[in-house]
Amino acid sequence: MGNDTVTIIDNATGKRMELPVFKGTCGPSVIDVRNLYREMGYFTYDPGYLSTGSCDSKITFIDGENGTLLYRGYPIEQLAKHSTYPEVCYLLLYRKLPTKAELEKFNESIKKHSLLDEAMRVFYRGFRHDAHAMAIMVAGVGALASFYPEALNVHDRNDRETSAHRLIAKMPTLAAWSYKYSIGQPFTYPRNDLDFTANFLSMMFGIPTEEYQANETFVKAMDLILILHADHEQNASTSTVRLTGSSEASPFAALSAGIGTLWGPAHGGANEVVVHMLEEMISSGKNLKHYINRAKDKNDRFRLMGFGHRVYKNYDPRAKIIRQICHQLLKEIGSDTENQQLFDTAMALERVALEDEYFIERKLYPNVDFYSGIIFRAMGIPLNMFTVIFALARTVGWLAHWMEMMADPDARISRPRQLYTGPDLQKYVPIEKR
Ligand code: SDX
Repeated sequence: MGNDTVTIIDNATGKRMELPVFKGTCGPSVIDVRNLYREMGYFTYDPGYLSTGSCDSKITFIDGENGTLLYRGYPIEQLAKHSTYPEVCYLLLYRKLPTKAELEKFNESIKKHSLLDEAMRVFYRGFRHDAHAMAIMVAGVGALASFYPEALNVHDRNDRETSAHRLIAKMPTLAAWSYKYSIGQPFTYPRNDLDFTANFLSMMFGIPTEEYQANETFVKAMDLILILHADHEQNASTSTVRLTGSSEASPFAALSAGIGTLWGPAHGGANEVVVHMLEEMISSGKNLKHYINRAKDKNDRFRLMGFGHRVYKNYDPRAKIIRQICHQLLKEIGSDTENQQLFDTAMALERVALEDEYFIERKLYPNVDFYSGIIFRAMGIPLNMFTVIFALARTVGWLAHWMEMMADPDARISRPRQLYTGPDLQKYVPIEKR
């Protein structure tokens, strides 16, 4: 019995099995249960995957107990302080920080792919003007698949890399155009003289009648937000991308599925709901304790949005940084009272919650979505674009995981099993006898 195995004993039959244990660079080791069914006739059972490792990955590490987040080993705090989103994209995709020449080449490639096929202009007209931008993004990324049939060559490394660059480059254009469509303004084309994040803001807020000057404070804040949202291990949307990609589907289809998953308010959709929640708290004039009590009431579906996390049982390191960005941004732009009021309410809510036994006992802290919406709002970004920006940022994380999986020679289709508790064998009864 090595110390790199665990033994399970079936008490019903006395049958024993040694299961291999694999140790990673850091974090919990895993028990390899792949042969469990064949040798012991059992499936593992883990709805919601609380204790299940779905893959071996070298991209991102999270230590939920200590609130640590590393992209390819680099602490998020250092990347937030020193890096840029394009450089973080390179790091996540190519496993190392780029040299100056490598980053320039990468940026050139992204610029080359930033245009959408002109036919996509007509695509938007199929939507109502008040369509949720995430609905457009789910459909839009799927629609892009129709322009790049070579994306189906998922076993060709060069085609995979081209698809990755195309998706990273086109998401800002797709996102900005869904905003422009919703306000009835002309689409603004990408500009090769601007860096990635300034280019996105130019497409969002530029108009053909004026030369757009990006607000440097906004560009810096947005670039930081993109870095902080770029990847996060095997979260629900990344697991969706991996599962969809495991069937050898187009990466465009896999990302469309990932965007759909991210949209949920339990996941990336929370950033939009947090602002609705804070606005309701302000307009109701009720004491914050009223909402804390509602969040604790099992008979009330209300939850403190932007709070809690499956992995972090400590403060989400990204939330800490976003709270700082929020504070600085509001100070720099001399925010209007509404945004300041939102921020003050969020800070007060955090204080009250973190002193409450229910939240302390369950280790519920603010997560990445708690403060981010206030920053977007201060930049004049509409609520239904908040999760779109999360999707734009997470595109590189989804692609890094997809490429890691597709490069794995042992990769196979993901196909979980179940505990069946439905009806036993039934005999068909003709309708006249029912
Ligand atoms: C993201 O996975 C990732 O990495 C995601 C993400 C990423 O970068 O990809 O970090 C992005 O999705 C952040 C999370 C955004 N969602 C929200 O802010 C929505 C509000 N949060 C919750 O719905 C919840 O905390 C989840 C969905 C985030 C986590 O759910 P879990 O892990 O299944 O936790 P749970 O529901 O089992 O909660 C454990 C306990 C329960 O109470 P008890 O049954 O033990 O009495 O904590 C309670 C829950 O009721 N609880 C909350 C709460 N979150 C958990 N109670 C009130 N308010 C909350 N927000």
